[in-house]
Amino acid sequence: MYKRILLTGANGFLGHHLAARLLKCGYVLIATGRGPCRLPFSGSPGFIYEEMDFTDPQQVQEVFTRQSPGYIIHAGAMTSPDACEQQREKAWQVNWEGTCNLLQAAERTGVPFCFLSTDFVFSGTTGMYREDEATAPVNYYGYTKAEAEKKVQAANLPWSIVRTVLVYGAPLQGRGNLLSLVKNKLEKGESLRVVDDQFRTPTFIGDLVNGICLLLEKKQTGIWHFSGEEMMTPYEMSVRTASYLGLTSGLLERVTAAEFPEPAKRPVRTGLSVEKAKKELGYSATGFSEGLRLTFGNGAGPSA
Ligand SMILES: NC(=O)c1ccc[n+]([C@@H]2O[C@H](COP(=O)([O-])OP(=O)(O)OC[C@H]3O[C@@H](n4cnc5c(N)ncnc54)[C@H](OP(=O)(O)O)[C@@H]3O)[C@@H](O)[C@H]2O)c1
Repeated sequence: MYKRILLTGANGFLGHHLAARLLKCGYVLIATGRGPCRLPFSGSPGFIYEEMDFTDPQQVQEVFTRQSPGYIIHAGAMTSPDACEQQREKAWQVNWEGTCNLLQAAERTGVPFCFLSTDFVFSGTTGMYREDEATAPVNYYGYTKAEAEKKVQAANLPWSIVRTVLVYGAPLQGRGNLLSLVKNKLEKGESLRVVDDQFRTPTFIGDLVNGICLLLEKKQTGIWHFSGEEMMTPYEMSVRTASYLGLTSGLLERVTAAEFPEPAKRPVRTGLSVEKAKKELGYSATGFSEGLRLTFGNGAGPSA
């Protein structure tokens, strides 16, 4: 069971790391993405790529019929909170309608469905958050994800929801992350404004991949939080990154959210409690210092 795994968003940041690990574990991976494959796994045993825009229900159904997946991991999304705020119709289409299309196809055969979600489903007034706490998003990205979570929970199949927060690691594909941004900016001698009054538990990409694999191996369902355990601000993360890389942190400008207006409002204090995952799955979180070493220490190889 679960031998054939269909992954959406395979060309993205998480998608690339997860694809590498799933192939290493011997799964047949039906990697899907918008447009051509940007992963370096063509010809690897077990690797299949299908172009699939999951906002198109017909494309989704055709791929499901052709490939008969045994497990779905839905990692694809419109992930920029600011883009979601500015293009609400598109954000709804991708993050909510797209999830509905995939659920509908999965329900036909009742295959387990794992949905990637975010700390941004929470209001950010009382972090750190447990899995059973009420969602109350403060921006449109969080709203689309929270509404998609409801559809997942109502689906007639075994479901799991994985929430994560501020993921960092070697950016193999997809969007960069705060650490790669700090490195790129400071290496060019450019300054960077970073907020110091928002609080997160940043997640090492390898831990997120491990968590998802634990769910697969242990055939678990329900809501799970996979993140780091150290609460810090993006400014603190940036200073520690600069220090680790031997770059001057003087180019990092410490700002408040009020001084750094962005189209999408950010929750102030999120952070996810991983107690349930530690206790029930044996999940463990990499400390930020070790995460920096794993991200930069040995080049940009996959963390998986
Ligand atoms: N990274 C984080 O800090 C973080 C934090 C919390 C939650 N998450 C969640 O984790 C998941 C993975 O995020 P990520 O960091 O890997 O993001 P990412 O690098 O932006 O990857 C998202 C992928 O989804 C694909 N996609 C978007 N619309 C699509 C569509 N209509 N059809 C098919 N593919 C589509 C994108 O395709 P293109 O490459 O063609 O644009 C991209 O490859 C997301 O669900 C996100 O909400 C991430």
